Amino acid sequence: MKIGFIGLGHMGNPMCRNLLKHGHKLKVYDVVADLARKLEKEGCELASSAAECARGVEVVITMLPSSPHVRSVYLSEYGVLKGAKSGTPLIDSSTIDPLTARDVAMEAKARGCPMVDAPVSGGVGGAEAGTLTFMVGGDAADYEAAKPILQGMGKNIVHCGGIGNGQVAKICNNMMLAIEMIATSEGMTLASKLGMDPKVFAAIVNTSSGRCWSSDTYNPFPGVLENVPASRGYSGGFGADLMLKDLTLVTDAAKNAKQPVVLGALAQQIYQKHSNDGHGAKDFSSVILQYMKEKA
Ligand SMILES: NC(=O)c1ccc[n+]([C@@H]2O[C@H](COP(=O)([O-])OP(=O)(O)OC[C@H]3O[C@@H](n4cnc5c(N)ncnc54)[C@H](O)[C@@H]3O)[C@@H](O)[C@H]2O)c1
Repeated sequence: MKIGFIGLGHMGNPMCRNLLKHGHKLKVYDVVADLARKLEKEGCELASSAAECARGVEVVITMLPSSPHVRSVYLSEYGVLKGAKSGTPLIDSSTIDPLTARDVAMEAKARGCPMVDAPVSGGVGGAEAGTLTFMVGGDAADYEAAKPILQGMGKNIVHCGGIGNGQVAKICNNMMLAIEMIATSEGMTLASKLGMDPKVFAAIVNTSSGRCWSSDTYNPFPGVLENVPASRGYSGGFGADLMLKDLTLVTDAAKNAKQPVVLGALAQQIYQKHSNDGHGAKDFSSVILQYMKEKA
């Protein structure tokens, strides 16, 4: 297929490379022209705007930082909807708020373009390996049409229901993960302070009722597990600032829905402080440094 791809950053670049490997032809656009030129060397056609990128392609995929970027890339004077032919399927894989996803999809539908939201989990590693999970919101027929394209970049393609529900799944899951990571950080640092060997404590937790992904697969305490960010100075992994972004999206969505998320709001504040303390670029498990200052 001929695919228009907009947003060629940490995630977009490897996603494009995997689409090329699957035999698709790509037309690419990014406001940072150098990022597009890198892909030109791989055989991609360059576009001079989002509208131009959407012109003459069979599907458009976007991978942008946040809600205002998505709104502008689709709806502005030089946006996707100005260039895409009626009937062109649109896939937004950015993580944004569900209301923006629904608004933009409504505008797209009014111009005859079916749209799905398809945020991902799996991070840069998953994007490079082509093993991302896509959480897809949209009509069943639009999901089925998007699925074979998404399979060129990911392993698990899950239909979450109507438009916006991919974002709902993504941000609610990440809220639970943040809360769980903070809980694990508190338990691990307290046990250590009270005199327990963190490795012994983690082994007990991991066969007891405190067990969770943050304790048994991604433990934040340095030295407990090998090959996790905690054992390499919290480098790589999923950035604390990206977690903060998702927590801000989820708490805003909860406010709109008048649904209390007491621990989610607290987690957002803890990650805000963590970011202000200068740790935003570190992996999100570095939030444990809020409890073990001497190791920061
Ligand atoms: N990086 C991760 O580990 C990860 C994991 C899961 C989800 N996500 C989500 O994926 C999305 C992309 O993340 P990323 O890490 O690739 O971000 P990034 O900042 O590296 O890439 C975004 C790209 O969009 C481009 N862009 C911004 N405005 C534009 C515009 N108006 N027109 C064209 N291009 C524009 C930027 O120049 C940049 O190259 C985000 O929503 C993020 O939350 C990221």
